[in-house]
Amino acid sequence: MLGRLNHVAIAVPDLAAATALYRDTLGAKVSAPQSLPEHGVTVVFIDTGNTKIELLEPVGEKSPIASFLEKSPAGGMHHICYEVDDIIAARDRLKAEGARVLGDGEPKIGAHGKPVLFLHPKDFLGTLVELEQAG
Ligand code: CO
Repeated sequence: MLGRLNHVAIAVPDLAAATALYRDTLGAKVSAPQSLPEHGVTVVFIDTGNTKIELLEPVGEKSPIASFLEKSPAGGMHHICYEVDDIIAARDRLKAEGARVLGDGEPKIGAHGKPVLFLHPKDFLGTLVELEQAG
C-alpha cells in the first residue's frame, strides 16, 4: 500500500524568511507561494530531486499550523507525506486496522491538486502522516 515519500513538511513562522534561507543559504530552487485556505496554510515547495520539502506558513487563526507554532515558535517538522495508489482503499484499510483519519475522513484536494488525507500522529509513532493519491 505505502508508496514513495512525496514530501516532508516543515512549519515556519515566516515563509518569506524560510524561502530566503532555502534559496540563498542552501541554494535550493523554491516554488512560488501557493495559498491553500481550505488547509489554513500558504506553502512553497522545494524539489530536492528524490523528494520535496514543503514549507508551511499558517493562514488564519484556526490554522492547524498556528497551534503547532505556538509550541515550536522557531518552526519544526510538521508531517511526512507518502503516496498511495488508491486513497480510498488505503483509508478503508487503515480504518479497519484501527488507525484514526483526521477530519471527516473524506479526502481533500491538496497542494498538488490530488486527494490527500491525514492520519492521527498518536497512531503513527508521534508523526503526522499525510497520504496523497499518486498518479
Ligand atoms: Co503536505
